[in-house]
Amino acid sequence: MSEAYQRAWRDSIENRDQFWARAAEAIDWIEAPACTYDDTRGWFAGGTLNTAYNCIDRHVEAGRGAAPALVYDSPVTGTVRSYSYAELQDEVGRVAAMLARLGVTKGDRVIIYMPMIPQTVFAMLACARLGAIHSVVFGGFAPLELAKRIDDATPRVLLTASCGIEGARTIAYMPMVEEALTLSAHKPESVVLFQREQMAADPGCAQDWASLVEATSTDPVPPCAELASDDPLYILYTSGTTGTPKGVVRENGGHAVALAWSMANIYGVGAGETFWAASDVGWVVGHSYIVYGPLLVGATTVLFEGKPVGTPDAGTFWRTIARHGVKRFFTAPTAIRAVRKEDPDGHFISEIGTGDCGAIFLAGERADPDTIAWLEDKSGLPVIDHWWQTELGWPAIATCFALGDLRRKRGSAGFPVPGFEFAVLGEDGQPVPQGTSGAVAIRAPLAPGAFRTLWNNAAGYEKNFAAFPGWYETGDAGYFDEEGFLSIMGRTDDIINVAGHRLSTGQMEQIVAQQDGVVECAVIGADDAIKGMVPVAFVVVRSGADDVAQIPARVIAAVRGELGAVAALKTAYVVDQLPKTRSGKILRNLLRKIVSGQPFEIPATIDDPSVPARLQARVLGD
Ligand code: COA
Ligand code: AMP
Repeated sequence: MSEAYQRAWRDSIENRDQFWARAAEAIDWIEAPACTYDDTRGWFAGGTLNTAYNCIDRHVEAGRGAAPALVYDSPVTGTVRSYSYAELQDEVGRVAAMLARLGVTKGDRVIIYMPMIPQTVFAMLACARLGAIHSVVFGGFAPLELAKRIDDATPRVLLTASCGIEGARTIAYMPMVEEALTLSAHKPESVVLFQREQMAADPGCAQDWASLVEATSTDPVPPCAELASDDPLYILYTSGTTGTPKGVVRENGGHAVALAWSMANIYGVGAGETFWAASDVGWVVGHSYIVYGPLLVGATTVLFEGKPVGTPDAGTFWRTIARHGVKRFFTAPTAIRAVRKEDPDGHFISEIGTGDCGAIFLAGERADPDTIAWLEDKSGLPVIDHWWQTELGWPAIATCFALGDLRRKRGSAGFPVPGFEFAVLGEDGQPVPQGTSGAVAIRAPLAPGAFRTLWNNAAGYEKNFAAFPGWYETGDAGYFDEEGFLSIMGRTDDIINVAGHRLSTGQMEQIVAQQDGVVECAVIGADDAIKGMVPVAFVVVRSGADDVAQIPARVIAAVRGELGAVAALKTAYVVDQLPKTRSGKILRNLLRKIVSGQPFEIPATIDDPSVPARLQARVLGD
């Protein structure tokens, strides 16, 4: 059953160049690559291409212009609208003409701070067409985070919309953009505002999107720029362990080849079939599998503006799958837990069914076995956990379902995907025995599609390869079992996954520590039945501080205000002392166990053994 997978994996390692040269045939190159991999120029060096051409124009030229490309399904606005490939070409051309009129050319950066609407996708693809580098910023981030990205990416243009819709709430974007622009040192030459009918915004400093598109409608559509394989397609900022976001740079050539390969060999979706990733375009899953992956192979992609529950109910996933004939569905475990909480007996799924769907893929955080079991039971479909990171851009551990592999083990993310050679390493850099947990590492060079630098931060990129020379340190801990399944157990650093969103507890600590009256603090991820983890803060306050009772609320508001609502910090405990080792290191694991109500042992290295009991009483007392 798994022979095709095993052959492919071996081939990708032993005959790497031939393997990827074959995969590269799925892409239309302007200039064919001169070589498959070059240490300085990366994947498909010498090759030139345009990603937007590969996503749209070539399908239209092949006579598939009438095929559906993008289906916008928005239960929060009561809209379902389908765009054919020809319509998508037209829309993207119009936005490209608008950007060109604003002076955007190859290599310029464009920040896109927009909700889940078709114009966001048009904008990304328009940048790709021009060779401009887009950087989409997730709507849940606060102005300060947006400002940091503006300063790092120094965009020529910033695109935004009047509002996002979060369940029942309408969130105005323009005030956040204006605040970000007062905080940032860099000021984009132009800000363009797409007015949504749900909430009009005062344009302030922004130009009106619709008027600009109208004004440039007679301009010639800018041609697809010829880009080198290693020219950046986009920058996507993700949480590192500090307050400074890491700008992952994605290159055109490797990205196009890797995503096309994954659509065919992991997901098994091609032209004429529908793929739905229920993510947000602000995250890497949204980039790869709402926008680029499905379009590269001529499939139909679903852009869903809603929540798993409450828009309007816990049947919304199944209804959307059935309505659009979704063949493969991709979501995060947290979303399934939210659905299960509302509909534990799976009434909706048995009533509505899952239409043509043949498999459900999960990623973004560890999928707990119980959630997988529930979903397999209620849907009757294979549920496939797979693992990846913003840095990699596509799955590196999976069951390659479309290669005929059906092996799954609940709690494991699957097997190394072709192109990725994994090792589980101990602190000495040597592989640990099977079944033993260690640092999950991937042999360098990484497969096509994975990052080869960080924007403005080459040194930060190199750090990922410093702990284990020759290996990329993923930051995750895990183990191989006797059958070769690789299970990921959690991060080895200060990053946590909250409702499928990657956040830095280190960054939250920096914000908390700056608050008046706070002497010391620790932010850790506590187990949560729906979100997987939620951040919890422990705060030691200055003796004599006069507003101790207000400090938790102040700390929570500061994190929300500076990082954004998505931080989801809702609990802060004022404590007299943090548990520390004798050398002064905060015992975060102990805090995590206490706050998650797990049994714990008092570490031998603890400075004051009386602290854990006091903390436990504090947590239980709340
Ligand atoms: N714009 C503005 N605010 C946003 C936002 C956005 N794009 N996304 C989230 N927020 C806000 C939420 O409204 C919420 O605000 P609140 O504290 O006022 O309620 C806060 O940020 C936290 O959001 P979240 O953690 O997403 O919680 P939730 O209760 O709104 O929803 C889930 C919980 C599980 C339903 C939801 O997180 C989900 O669907 N997660 C899946 C994530 C995913 O697909 N990740 C991609 C990896 S595959
Ligand atoms: P992001 O860069 O936002 O995609 O987050 C990447 C991190 O999410 C990984 O380093 C893991 O810690 C976690 N993650 C993603 N997918 C999985 C999975 N299938 N199982 C366990 N952890 C996962």
